[in-house]
Amino acid sequence: MLRSSLRLPQPFRRAASTAGPGRRLLLSTPIFYANGPPHIGHLYSALLADALHRHRGLRGAGPSRLSTGTDEHGLKIQQAAAAAGTSPPELCARISALFHQAFTQAAISFTDFIRTSEPRHCQAVCHFWAALQDRGALYKGTYEGWYCTAEEGFLPESQLTERVDAQGCAHKVSVESGHEVHWTKEENYMFKLSAFQDPLQKWLRDNPRAISPEPFYQRVLCWLGEDLPDLSISRERSRLQWGIPVPRDPTQTIYVWVDALVNYLSVLGYPESHGEWWPAAHHVVGKDILRFHAVYWPALLMAAGLSPPERIFVHSHWTVRGQKMSKSLGNVIDPFACNERYTVDGFRYFLLRQGVPERDCDYYDEKVVKIVNSELADALGGLLNRSTAPGINPSNTYPCFSETCFPKVVDYRGTEALGRAAAEDYEFVVSVASLPLQVAGYFDHFQIYKALECIALCVRQTNGFFQRHKPWKLDRKDPAEKLWLDTILHVTLECLRVYGTLLQPVIPHTADKLLSRLAVEPEERGISGLTFLPRYNGKPCPFEGRQLGPDTGVLFHRLEKSSQHQIERKRL
Ligand code: MSP
Repeated sequence: MLRSSLRLPQPFRRAASTAGPGRRLLLSTPIFYANGPPHIGHLYSALLADALHRHRGLRGAGPSRLSTGTDEHGLKIQQAAAAAGTSPPELCARISALFHQAFTQAAISFTDFIRTSEPRHCQAVCHFWAALQDRGALYKGTYEGWYCTAEEGFLPESQLTERVDAQGCAHKVSVESGHEVHWTKEENYMFKLSAFQDPLQKWLRDNPRAISPEPFYQRVLCWLGEDLPDLSISRERSRLQWGIPVPRDPTQTIYVWVDALVNYLSVLGYPESHGEWWPAAHHVVGKDILRFHAVYWPALLMAAGLSPPERIFVHSHWTVRGQKMSKSLGNVIDPFACNERYTVDGFRYFLLRQGVPERDCDYYDEKVVKIVNSELADALGGLLNRSTAPGINPSNTYPCFSETCFPKVVDYRGTEALGRAAAEDYEFVVSVASLPLQVAGYFDHFQIYKALECIALCVRQTNGFFQRHKPWKLDRKDPAEKLWLDTILHVTLECLRVYGTLLQPVIPHTADKLLSRLAVEPEERGISGLTFLPRYNGKPCPFEGRQLGPDTGVLFHRLEKSSQHQIERKRL
């Protein structure tokens, strides 16, 4: 039955409460299928969202929430439970607890963990369904097509290919996932997706920052230029019992993707209290689920009378020694084992430093060891150790800066040295001073890896500065030498304070250790009020003369090189 009264959306204006500083923001990870334990790809999705959430918190940009959770309904889960000889609720409870544990261990700062089997979620989904129905966006029709259980979706011919098995039989499989598809014909509720082609295009054209990085934005625009058929959004209950029944039609089960997407509203208390937050939502998603988030979800929201989310951040996938991670290849990397092997911060640093959202990235043990040892243990930890060692800083205080040794100059290029600092020292100080803004810009553009690259470069430059002036050779008993020695140490600690502050969203434990050693109080760790070397600009430095923190231990222990560690999860 086709309802002709579908209400199409008005152009989307951002609500006043979501504009400007101090506004609320929901950050989200996808919710994870509860059919198998977490792997490092899942952790990466969560880490990206976590780093954005922490960075925003440190900027004091306004209240924010980070939601995550598990996607528990659907054929995939029903079949996994049957294969494991258990019931879907039992399987989901076990796997959901593993995701909760993995994310807690990895210091993901989530504020909401939702399970789609919870009553609060089921109520939200039923309300959302009723909104679609009341606004004329649904009709009942016979649907037939190729269904891929692994992807939980009907696939068009263009997304299919053939694979011949060992017996010589040809099977149709999904191009994207390689999983087999089955011809399915049933009576379903259909969503009038086709009616949203123009509104979706307009939404994207009016909001060029809605999908980042840019190539994914272009990809979605391209999809929207093609045919956009209506979407089947229910399954016969006889085929799929593990799901939310269609309100007022118990012969049908709501399609798992509609069910899952609504989680972003249920965490906000939809339909009662979501208005204070929605549509100020930023979703982090993997490239494989882009179509669901950038086409279906905005269309469903418009159809239900809500605005599309503000931004969608898309990332690519992790491979393992050049291969796709898969249970059958036995190369699935276990996040629990990685945290143990590399430490929580070490592995967080690796994934965020090496993960480039635009392209797939490769994981292998030697790469983690190399990057973590050189950048965290040697460059950052070594610098802290050298600049605070008792031999060089016997009073264990934050040393004083001398304007005579490092005078302010308007243009340091080509100027004769006035104090003891050289032209390259001025250049280096300028690059550290610009770091907080640069880092903020990269976080805004979902380029956390670039932020880390810049910080790593500055750490290297600070080591260069320290090495160049060899403070260990200066004689503390000579008053002129002491001034310069203290100035070198002051500049170095100021740099370390900036790095520690900016690294908090990525390596929270190590950054805390570093800042505590530098005697930076919790209320002095914000990013928005971050100053660097105020004494150079003639302003007071609150840290000067302060007693340093008591923990003189190694900041980050070097990781052993070893091929013995077993972190690939063999069959479970
Ligand atoms: N349940 C759906 C999402 C529903 S959101 C409303 C789902 N779950 S998933 O468990 O299969 O994937 C969750 C996330 O993990 C996705 O963002 C996906 O891209 C990501 N990853 C899965 N494998 C990955 C890699 N190998 N590498 C990086 N991320 C990967 O899809």
